[in-house]
Amino acid sequence: MKFDDVDAETQWLGEVLNVLTQAGKPTTREALEHLRDQLTDMVWREGAPRAERFRAGADDDLRLRRHPLASVTAGGCSALLMYWPPGHATLPHDHDGLWGIELVLDGTLAINEYLQTGRGVSTTLAPTGVQHLGVGDAALFKGQRYVHRCRNLSNAHPTLTLHVYGGELRTFTVWDNDANDGHVMRRITPRLDRTLLS
Ligand SMILES: [Fe+2]
Repeated sequence: MKFDDVDAETQWLGEVLNVLTQAGKPTTREALEHLRDQLTDMVWREGAPRAERFRAGADDDLRLRRHPLASVTAGGCSALLMYWPPGHATLPHDHDGLWGIELVLDGTLAINEYLQTGRGVSTTLAPTGVQHLGVGDAALFKGQRYVHRCRNLSNAHPTLTLHVYGGELRTFTVWDNDANDGHVMRRITPRLDRTLLS
């Protein structure tokens, strides 16, 4: 990797922060779609981060990594880059009621989507569809009951994604399997990796 490439990537990430700062606190579907389209347009520009750059080596290459972008605006959006090892899949999870945009920068991502019905132990997940995202594709979601599960479709190549949420996503709920073919809900606080642009 040349220094020029690092500079271009830093500029690109800075431009993402500019876009998010200008977006402020989008709430309508229309405003969120506009923001999604702005970010999507950036994927093909010089400096867009690639998965190879985020290879960490050793065991770190085998786990999902979350790199926050330096805080965007007080009370506004948050953003992070995620590195997905080949074949990595998450558990079904919510986003603590926040809206979100998940954009593929490199590689592929399959998203199984669900609607949460019921409350507490009687909660079930009703499948609503599957999206297969390639480079430049984005999923946009909104709503308290939205849940999804994401998977890197490639067993050979890592994926890199940009995630933007309508606030800071510190903790959220995952649906894990229990011993009786059912599920158990857990709150988790994911580990964060190196902050970018700090
Ligand atoms: Fe997610």
